[in-house]
Amino acid sequence: MSYNKKTVRDIDFSKGPRVLLRCDFNVPIENGAVTDDTRITASLPTIKYILEHGGSAVLCSHLGRPKGKVSPEFSLAPVAKILSKLLGFDVPLATDVVGLSAKALAGALQPGKAILIENLRFHAQEEANDPEFSKWLAELADVYVNDAFGAAHRAHASTAGVASYLPAYCGLLIEKELAAIGGALTEPRRPFTAILGGSKVSDKLGVIENLVKIADNLLIGGGMAYTFIQAKGGKIGKSLLDADKLDYVTELLKNDSAGKIHLPADSVITSELKAGAVTEIAASGAIPDDMLGADIGPETSEAYADIITNSGTVIWNGPMGVFELDEFAAGTKIIAGAMAASSAFTIVGGGDSLAAVNKYGLADKMNHNATGGGATLEFLEGKVLPGIDCLLDR
Ligand code: 3PG
Repeated sequence: MSYNKKTVRDIDFSKGPRVLLRCDFNVPIENGAVTDDTRITASLPTIKYILEHGGSAVLCSHLGRPKGKVSPEFSLAPVAKILSKLLGFDVPLATDVVGLSAKALAGALQPGKAILIENLRFHAQEEANDPEFSKWLAELADVYVNDAFGAAHRAHASTAGVASYLPAYCGLLIEKELAAIGGALTEPRRPFTAILGGSKVSDKLGVIENLVKIADNLLIGGGMAYTFIQAKGGKIGKSLLDADKLDYVTELLKNDSAGKIHLPADSVITSELKAGAVTEIAASGAIPDDMLGADIGPETSEAYADIITNSGTVIWNGPMGVFELDEFAAGTKIIAGAMAASSAFTIVGGGDSLAAVNKYGLADKMNHNATGGGATLEFLEGKVLPGIDCLLDR
């Protein structure tokens, strides 16, 4: 997959084109109100770019998983409200996706203005990447721009299919994600360190396989570390074990002649995962039978922080422990702090790591915070992202 795509900056705006702009407005909603508008604000630079250059925008997105049914609880109405506030003018919401309401509002669009059409997933044809549905979407505009990085791993009508019917460009958010993550994967400033955590090895297999080829250091933490430790003959007590992946991990460690893979030497252990739990520090390979590892220990935190400080590029995906509970949060906090203080190019790869960085107020100290969970993982796995692959190459 080429990372060198034409962007919204390459569009000829002289005739005031109508742009079908696919965003990822899949935001959390409670009692009819958006509770976290990060993804909406992340789309603003591209929306504003289009409007300020004399274009108009037909905005579209999915929200949740309504599975092809019109469901009021998945309406984009709360998003239209926030967009109107952020853009300073009314952004009307079509009552349908490709029907009369959407067509009428799109047809009446003036340069510098935007509308939002209803949740794309109200039609089963969206997720089925139905060509007819892609054509109907294309008829709403002259040009297509994809800025929905969080949905770029989906081959749906609005993320991929529509690019067969309109000239297709990437938005400024996807451009930024491509430059940061794509740049790290292809031309990292070295040493290149990847920190991988989370609970299961199986969730990270693809990422491990890809990054072990590219990175100089893989720092393993979180629940998945204990499968590695057992594979090396350690005693892990009641710690998480991905038994199906033991052979795979054993092979991986055997082939790591360069010593890229680092495992936690010590762990914070406990007999139960709960607030106020009694904790101890133990060697990660000597955990008593009735206890489990719930965070990396102080010696490991220091060693990992040291590697981060001396890296040129750092990518982080997955917490080091059960950071939602203060008793098991120290490792994750130290890693976040070391990244924030490091002069390396730092990337936080979405999901739980981003939640941790936000919790510690360090997001603005990172060079890049990826906006997609699943999309970022597939990007790190080296997979083709259909929502990016379909866009015009430079
Ligand atoms: C996300 O929230 O990760 C994206 O919006 C994709 O949503 P999906 O997993 O429902 O396709």
